[in-house]
Amino acid sequence: MLILGIETSCDETSVSIVEDGKKILTLSTFSQIDIHKNFNGVVPEVASRNHLVKIIDVLEEGLGEKCLSDMDAFAATNGPGLLGSLLVGTNFAKSLALYFNKPYIPVNHIMAHMYSPHLENEIEFPYIGLVVSGGHTILFYVKSFTDIEFLGSTIDDAIGEAFDKVAKYLNLGYPGGPVIDKLAQDDEAVFLEDFKDISLPLSTEKDRYNFSYSGLKTAIVYKLKKIEVTEKNIKSIAKTFQEIAIKHLLDKTMNAINDLKINRLVISGGVSANSFLRKSLDEIKTKNNIQVYSASLALCSDNAAMVAGRAFVDYLNNKENFNIESLRSKAFSRLSFVKKGKR
Ligand code: KG4
Ligand code: ZN
Repeated sequence: MLILGIETSCDETSVSIVEDGKKILTLSTFSQIDIHKNFNGVVPEVASRNHLVKIIDVLEEGLGEKCLSDMDAFAATNGPGLLGSLLVGTNFAKSLALYFNKPYIPVNHIMAHMYSPHLENEIEFPYIGLVVSGGHTILFYVKSFTDIEFLGSTIDDAIGEAFDKVAKYLNLGYPGGPVIDKLAQDDEAVFLEDFKDISLPLSTEKDRYNFSYSGLKTAIVYKLKKIEVTEKNIKSIAKTFQEIAIKHLLDKTMNAINDLKINRLVISGGVSANSFLRKSLDEIKTKNNIQVYSASLALCSDNAAMVAGRAFVDYLNNKENFNIESLRSKAFSRLSFVKKGKR
């Protein structure tokens, strides 16, 4: 089954064709990072306008040798995300589905991220799923693709948001994650002793699987008011913040792994590209005998392959739900109302 997926939930316009939820035939992504850099973050209205401008080009490239008529279904991210941006992708996919008389499959963005490691690995259930991005930090107990239990999430900022905010404070530009990651990898970077007393929040039982990043960001900013940021110590500041942030992430994740006695972890989302996180996971893998899966770097951040992949399992599990006739009747019921002259 060939599914054409569309992703427009934030600042990436992406189109991909995936066969049977596994084989990525094409993937074309236009990132708006260079546009939003000027504003130090994503501006929703600017993002949706640029999706509109770019979607045809990205679709053309994302089709590769294939034709739209070769597709068996059309899928798009339908949330969570920026509303105006989501509307571009969902309306585009719905229009294609109506025109070609094929199913339209709306896909949840978080579920799509969690699917991304499945595109390249055979992963058995159950597992602990950790989604870490600019908007989300969530732990799930995943028993199957359709039986997923929410364990905990951030109670304030997402981890990616904390990377972005600390980077903004240090004038490192947007997005902050990759810049902080790169600075922290420098040989000159050391963990700053002055920052050692920053305590990680949410140690109570009720917050065993919850995260909090807003306090950490404030604590770092407070420390920075007391020292001069130089070209030399900025690498160490990046390393120190990154290590505290990742330790908090792994502590909570290990709580879930130990409590539920599940030795399989699937990690996804933009922050799963972080090199210190990946290194720490390698150590955990060996030390605790845990299988750890993540997507390759190109599939960590927002992309349409994970949308088309997740759409395949959603479709297999509930074909009737994506019946084109229900979409057609919903789309045209209002139109016939207009034709009858009532409005
Ligand atoms: O999944 P994603 O592309 O978009 C959302 O759904 O949010 O994640 C983007 C987030 C940004 O906050 C970005 O700073 C962060 O992922 N990120 C990283 C790294 N690469 C991207 N954070 C830490 N280390 C990285 N290497
Ligand atoms: Zn995302």
